[in-house]
Amino acid sequence: MTKPRILTGDTPTGRLHLGHWVGSVERRVALQDQYDCYFLLANMHAFTTRFDKPQEIRQDTIEIVKDWLAAGIDPQKSTIVLQTEVPAIAELTWFFAMLLSFNDVMGNPTLVHELETKGLKDSYSFGFPMYTVGQCADILAFRPELVPVGEDQAPHIEMCRKAARKFNQLYCGVSNRADDHEHVKLGGVFPVPKALIGRVGRLPGAGDGKQKMSKSLGNAIFLSDGAKEVQKKINKITTGRQSPTEPGDPENVLFKFVEAFITDQARVAELKDRYARGDNIGDGHIKAELAEAINRLLEPMRARRAEFETPGGDDRIIEIIKAGVKRANVVAEETLYLAKRAMGLDFGRRVLA
Ligand code: TRP
Repeated sequence: MTKPRILTGDTPTGRLHLGHWVGSVERRVALQDQYDCYFLLANMHAFTTRFDKPQEIRQDTIEIVKDWLAAGIDPQKSTIVLQTEVPAIAELTWFFAMLLSFNDVMGNPTLVHELETKGLKDSYSFGFPMYTVGQCADILAFRPELVPVGEDQAPHIEMCRKAARKFNQLYCGVSNRADDHEHVKLGGVFPVPKALIGRVGRLPGAGDGKQKMSKSLGNAIFLSDGAKEVQKKINKITTGRQSPTEPGDPENVLFKFVEAFITDQARVAELKDRYARGDNIGDGHIKAELAEAINRLLEPMRARRAEFETPGGDDRIIEIIKAGVKRANVVAEETLYLAKRAMGLDFGRRVLA
């Protein structure tokens, strides 16, 4: 029995934070046994905005792998995919670029939002919008069933589904009335994969709750933060509530964290109830309990990370990446071959050295 596949990944832009954890990483760790998992390091995508900082991208790539391993991703079970060493991804990107309209790409809500918020509006490279098409190829190169991602990635998955359907209809004779889940059965090369959105769609940053958690906004709690740092950052959450006897809003930013990280549901319900009634429960008390819960989650991650923060640690990470690349290329090359054959491009089957 072959297990169904999962593909997802991260752009190496710095260390992973709690938003990544509840958005996707937690799921990845949990699904490793049931699924054949591929976790992609989108280092090519990092170049679309930081082409002038190759050394930073290299180091960020290594750091993300440390975060993954710390979080519990097991490279024996799951395959780590370095995007720039899987040529089939770049080749499939070209083909998918022809199947998606220019307006679909440029109107992709996540891309539009990035152009607005990252100050790229009048200066982005030709390559930048290509990352969205590239993401379709990242996914489809592995023909996965599921793509566990945070809410912000949903438009990309929708685009990927569109590309898969179009390919199968054009080149594999799949009817345009076929159900998504039947595409492969009907001869399509690509499954129409489903997004699996995280348990917490959008985790706010440690602040007033207006912004999402993000490294660039300076409100992130990193998986690699120490216990004191976590408490300090949690203390920066502001609710505007004045005293322990003031009735509070159990849906406020502080409670978004409580719901995400305090695992005892009875305790969460009790805290909410007392908070709403102003039953002598201060924000400070809740923050202490919250920081403790987060630290309980992060402690084993810190211990696992420490194993790679020794001399030679980076070299061991690079060996893990190389082993992943080998496995990834077996699958991606097979996909490329099937796709090219469907397109009448079966002029030879190459073998990567
Ligand atoms: N765009 C994703 C992010 O920034 C990273 C990514 C690249 C990805 N390729 C992917 C996620 C394929 C899921 C599937 O977080």
